[in-house]
Amino acid sequence: MMKPSFAKALEGAMIIDFSNPKIFNPVYLPLLNDTNRYILMYGGRDSAKSYFAAQKVIIDTMRKSYSRIILVRKAYAHIKDSQFQTIKDIVSSYGLMDYFAFVENPLRIIFKKNGNMIIARGLDKEHKTKSIKDPTGVWYEEMNEIGFNDFLKTTTSLRGGIIQEIATFNPEMETEWINSYFFPAKESYEKADGNFHFVKSVRDDTTILHTTYKDNTYVTPQSAELLESFKDIDDNYYKIYTLGLWGGVLEGLIYDSWEITPLVPPYRGENGEPIRLLGYGLDWGFTNDPTAIVRVNMGENTLYLDEILYKKGMTNQELCREMISAGINASDEIVADSAEPKSIQELYASGFNVHPALKGPDSVRAGISKIRQYKIRVTARSRNLIRELKNYRWKMDKDGNSLNIPIDNFNHGLDAVRYVVMNKTMIQKKRIFGVRSVSI
Ligand SMILES: Nc1ncnc2c1ncn2[C@@H]1O[C@H](COP(=O)(O)OP(=O)(O)OP(=O)(O)O)[C@@H](O)[C@H]1O
Ligand SMILES: [Mg+2]
Repeated sequence: MMKPSFAKALEGAMIIDFSNPKIFNPVYLPLLNDTNRYILMYGGRDSAKSYFAAQKVIIDTMRKSYSRIILVRKAYAHIKDSQFQTIKDIVSSYGLMDYFAFVENPLRIIFKKNGNMIIARGLDKEHKTKSIKDPTGVWYEEMNEIGFNDFLKTTTSLRGGIIQEIATFNPEMETEWINSYFFPAKESYEKADGNFHFVKSVRDDTTILHTTYKDNTYVTPQSAELLESFKDIDDNYYKIYTLGLWGGVLEGLIYDSWEITPLVPPYRGENGEPIRLLGYGLDWGFTNDPTAIVRVNMGENTLYLDEILYKKGMTNQELCREMISAGINASDEIVADSAEPKSIQELYASGFNVHPALKGPDSVRAGISKIRQYKIRVTARSRNLIRELKNYRWKMDKDGNSLNIPIDNFNHGLDAVRYVVMNKTMIQKKRIFGVRSVSI
């Protein structure tokens, strides 16, 4: 059914048979000709949601005599690297680049055969979709980043003709509006192993498809392995990103936005920028607390955190041995909690380039707010650090408002990170280097 209209659009040029099941992950096929207004694709990571959404947008652009689809994200700046790029990659892999124009400023894609367009709108800019003449569809990427009001404004601004709104997202918070607006009680459809597909929406005119990486025949073994490894790291993370089930409620988290990365890239960050070693942070342990060492790399606006050591009851001698076997050498800078000047001196005497973290009034909060200015990426092997990130919280008052005071728990590795970030990004270098040991 699709093939002839596609062929017509290309006026007899190269024909791609989109009914070829090898092009699509089979679970998505029923959505190709689904005419419901809302099509929600949600679930775990790497389940091909975005890829299929891009395929559908491309095909609709090519097969319809008139089509004008809007790519929507919370932040306009993110559209170019996500939806726009995915569409471009797919068009290119089909050998169809000659039929499309990819324009960057402002972002838009034009199907040259009939002028059909794909345009981009961020919800961070004043409004938005209203000004677009005769749209036929929208693709909301990472729908869970978009607030209910923005969604309502957008969906109500799309009038006339037949409109289709596609949404892709991970089910991060059970309390999200998407859940209460579109979904029935999760007990009625969620399967604990994540193995289910269509969910009957409480709204009319809505299709909901749940997928996991197991539905994506193109997933790499490395990605599958990483997703399975979440099982040992964090229940909530495994639930959301591996099984695609609604995640738990986490309020008052200090670091509420971070991602797991397989490994710190050796020289380049995720935007291709060079990354450099900022230093190692060290938080001293006692009998009950672990000694924590975290390696902190920095890319453009991004901190890459890698847990090197997290162990209780360590003597300084044992610590030196562990540091050597972790490959920390005399030229690597280590920033340690200044509460133990004697230990700092011992490590220094053993040949490590260790300095005390500077402390001052309110330095904990200042350090936290500095770290929060960066994107945080944590290596998958950093199990304890990930547990801390998931649990380090602000104190809350009885009404659930943050008191802006960190709870002194789940903060060993994260304090180590803070020491490095503060000394290396907030304080004049001169005041630090060359100082053997200072008590502050
Ligand atoms: N039909 C396909 N043909 C070829 N490769 C595909 C196809 N579908 C998915 N992939 C591959 O699988 C990878 C993961 O897909 P995609 O990024 O769409 O997942 P996702 O469900 O959007 O993940 P996330 O939840 O992280 O956003 C893609 O990078 C792509 O390489
Ligand atoms: Mg995606």
